[in-house]
Amino acid sequence: MSDIRFPYPASIGDVSLDGRLILGPMAGVTYLPYREFMRPYGIALSVSEMISDCGIVYHNQRTFEYFASSPSDHPFALQLFGSQLDKTLAAIAILEKEAQYEILDLNFGCPVPKVTKTGAGSSWLSRPEELYSYVRAIVLASHKPVTAKIRLGIDDKHLNFREVCSALIEAGVKMITIHARTKSQGYSGYARYELLKDLGPQISVPLCISGDINDPVKAKEAMQLTGASFLMLARYGVGDPLLAKELSDMLKGEEVKYSRTLEEQTGFALEYLEKMKAYFDPKIAFPLSKGILPKFFHFFPGGKKIRQEIVELTRNMDDMEILLKRIQKRNHL
Ligand SMILES: Cc1cc2nc3c(=O)[nH]c(=O)nc-3n(C[C@H](O)[C@H](O)[C@H](O)COP(=O)(O)O)c2cc1C
Repeated sequence: MSDIRFPYPASIGDVSLDGRLILGPMAGVTYLPYREFMRPYGIALSVSEMISDCGIVYHNQRTFEYFASSPSDHPFALQLFGSQLDKTLAAIAILEKEAQYEILDLNFGCPVPKVTKTGAGSSWLSRPEELYSYVRAIVLASHKPVTAKIRLGIDDKHLNFREVCSALIEAGVKMITIHARTKSQGYSGYARYELLKDLGPQISVPLCISGDINDPVKAKEAMQLTGASFLMLARYGVGDPLLAKELSDMLKGEEVKYSRTLEEQTGFALEYLEKMKAYFDPKIAFPLSKGILPKFFHFFPGGKKIRQEIVELTRNMDDMEILLKRIQKRNHL
């Protein structure tokens, strides 16, 4: 039994989850192969990267790849971003016909100017009343439970997450994730969980917390401080599936620290590579894998050399596999 008191059971609307760890959405990372790779390490729900409603409505091929899922990738939340209700509703109508997902997540947290200048992402945080009407119409149209991901506010002078939560709950969302930074913080500084103290039991839907989740002890403190019901793993899980396992164990009340060995990490890297090869065209899989694989070798004294060897590869996935297998056999770095 966990000694964290979760205010709500592990479900989102009518979707029951087998755990409380959520794999956070990351554009350019959380493609289907990454989600499939991470799932066995304690992930109860995975989330697609943010998908543009316009991309769906205008049938952008790349956008359609983003909502691919597979039988082992469920329960799965699709995350949409947009700013115009008619486009968002049209996108949802297409998704409901063509995509397999259990939860519709709405992005109100992205701080990237390309997104916010269109009125989407975290720029919504400055318009709570309009946000209510937008989300209400989506909740009424969607046949799946709707959730939302937000930030603390636009900046330190506008920490209006309580007001935004009220608007979202009134509109009918079934779970709220808060990335405990402001829009103006971007990804810098720290996640400030002290601002979310005791929020979980004070709101009428489950709270999920996100930001700087890189250690089970710290994550447990953040869960206890905020009264959250779910925990989101994002950047620090990339290349470290055992962190997902430690966090999921911690949420179930088992505190185990796994040691990372070079052999096992290389095994994980090869597993990830296999999934990328199976899903993507090799020309796409190669550069994407090159961006992710070095992260599997952060922990070791000679990791820098390995990371360099990966980055310096110029040809193809076969070379990558040969290199990883060679690394796996090395006893000393
Ligand atoms: C490269 C990258 C891409 C991201 N893409 C998304 C996204 O598509 N949708 C979203 O809601 N959050 C996105 N995020 C935010 C993460 O889901 C998470 O909230 C944030 O990284 C804080 O958690 P962390 O400090 O544990 O990584 C992204 C973060 C990174 C680093």
